[in-house]
Amino acid sequence: MGLSFFILLKIKIINITADFSYFCKQKLKIMKTRNILIAVLAILLGIAVILIILFAQTTKKEIDIKEEIKMEEQDFTKVIFERKSVRNYTEAAVEKEKLEKLMRAGMAAPSARNLQPWEFIAVTERSILDEMADGLPYCKMLTKAPAAIIVCGNMEKAATDVDKSYWVQDCAAASQNILLAAEATGLGAVWTAAFPYQERMDVVIKTLNLPEHIIPLNVIPVGYPTGKDKAKDKFKPENIHWEKW
Ligand SMILES: Cc1cc2nc3c(=O)[nH]c(=O)nc-3n(C[C@H](O)[C@H](O)[C@H](O)COP(=O)(O)O)c2cc1C
Repeated sequence: MGLSFFILLKIKIINITADFSYFCKQKLKIMKTRNILIAVLAILLGIAVILIILFAQTTKKEIDIKEEIKMEEQDFTKVIFERKSVRNYTEAAVEKEKLEKLMRAGMAAPSARNLQPWEFIAVTERSILDEMADGLPYCKMLTKAPAAIIVCGNMEKAATDVDKSYWVQDCAAASQNILLAAEATGLGAVWTAAFPYQERMDVVIKTLNLPEHIIPLNVIPVGYPTGKDKAKDKFKPENIHWEKW
């Protein structure tokens, strides 16, 4: 009787232990699956957050670029219509970086066959500016200008066939870029002619010691404007023609 009770008890204990271990194993399995699920969800959530941040950044960038373009368009129109020949300057010197910027703007101009047949000479030395002013009848403002850029055509870079006079147009485009860049950067400048007047070209050639293949197109005095020179309204509707004459 005692033995059978003991055996029954042992069987019961074994059953309970087996049940408990089964329960534990199941629980462990469930916990493992839950942990994996939580980990997967956390990763997915992380990816979603990163994607949302990236999307928000891209959208913000796009909006910024659009606003920048809008601003630049406004500034650009303003620069074109506000540009004027400036012949009156303050005594402030023009920074070398600004002069370099103007020449970089010149080099951004279009040129026939992209030959870029130009050279730019920046002058800030008073004696050189005065010497040129002395010899150039329509460039007397140079005596008051702190700097000048001389735009030249390089005949070794220029076309040599029927298109050889393109250098003038190319250098003219570069000159206009310089004038616009001056306006845009708070400077004032004026195109004064050297080409096609031989006597004026000779003055520039001699003063700047230019070699034979370098022809000066113009002298552009540059300085900070006093505010005296104003932009002119040149709009004339009769100059515009649509489709045919
Ligand atoms: C090819 C060319 C040659 C010029 N030559 C001179 C010049 O020798 N001296 C001068 O003071 N201005 C000169 N100018 C500037 C013009 O007089 C000026 O552009 C024009 O009166 C219109 O005025 P704005 O530039 O203020 O719009 C020249 C302009 C060009 C395009």
